[in-house]
Amino acid sequence: MTQTVLVTGSNRGIGLEMSRQYAQEGWNVLACCRNPQQANELKRIADSFSSRVTLHQLDVAHADQIRALANELKGQSIDILVNNAGLRGLSENFGEADESVWMDVLKVNTIAPLKVVEALVENVARSREKVIATVSSDMGSIHKNVGGRDYIYRSSKAAVNAVMKTLSIDLKDLKIIVVMVHPGWVQTDMGGRGAPLSVQESVKGMRTVLASLKLKNTGRFYAYDGREIPW
Ligand SMILES: NC(=O)c1ccc[n+]([C@@H]2O[C@H](COP(=O)([O-])OP(=O)(O)OC[C@H]3O[C@@H](n4cnc5c(N)ncnc54)[C@H](OP(=O)(O)O)[C@@H]3O)[C@@H](O)[C@H]2O)c1
Repeated sequence: MTQTVLVTGSNRGIGLEMSRQYAQEGWNVLACCRNPQQANELKRIADSFSSRVTLHQLDVAHADQIRALANELKGQSIDILVNNAGLRGLSENFGEADESVWMDVLKVNTIAPLKVVEALVENVARSREKVIATVSSDMGSIHKNVGGRDYIYRSSKAAVNAVMKTLSIDLKDLKIIVVMVHPGWVQTDMGGRGAPLSVQESVKGMRTVLASLKLKNTGRFYAYDGREIPW
């Protein structure tokens, strides 16, 4: 049976490339984004793969949209659910962390990934692969933090790692594998043009990691090249 991946934030950057590569590999892709009507590149991908790629409206910060998506997808199995949508916020120094920006970033980077899983866990449980992957960042690694600054983004990714580690324990009986993946520093709107890694290379690496997972890997934090990242 054809496998299915769901990707949030699929209209640009890493999410767009994930949608493209899984479609090229013959997967069904449930491509979720805030504004499907304006997602021109994603629509082009959907056109070239006919019914295999479908676009779905999802602003992950809106609980009603998550619920609506779950209703729309009732009974559909999801082999890999990728929580990719993310916000960087501004790169702030000590004294510059704005509280309202912080709350917005936490909502998208930390809270939404769990809310999406809560709504779609039955879809993942009924699939063959049973994988939930959250695109985190090594900037969320407390061990690797030698640079300081970036309180908002770092804390949002460290917190989502704690959330997903907890989820991995809670969903183990359902045989669902929960992992966090660091894509590397990637050439996207977020990563900037100076980033060393192309989006194609990063996504290819992450897909290889996801394809190799077994239940014993649940709760782990991997880089796109398969290295494990310390908490
Ligand atoms: N690029 C890097 O170097 C790098 C490094 C480490 C981790 N990451 C992580 O990788 C993931 C993807 O990053 P990227 O580089 O592809 O970033 P990007 O180019 O800035 O794209 C971000 C994506 O997230 C979506 N998004 C933001 N808020 C959303 C919301 N409320 N609901 C739904 N979608 C939302 C955006 O949609 P709109 O177009 O509607 O805004 C866009 O599709 C993020 O989680 C990021 O933290 C990236």
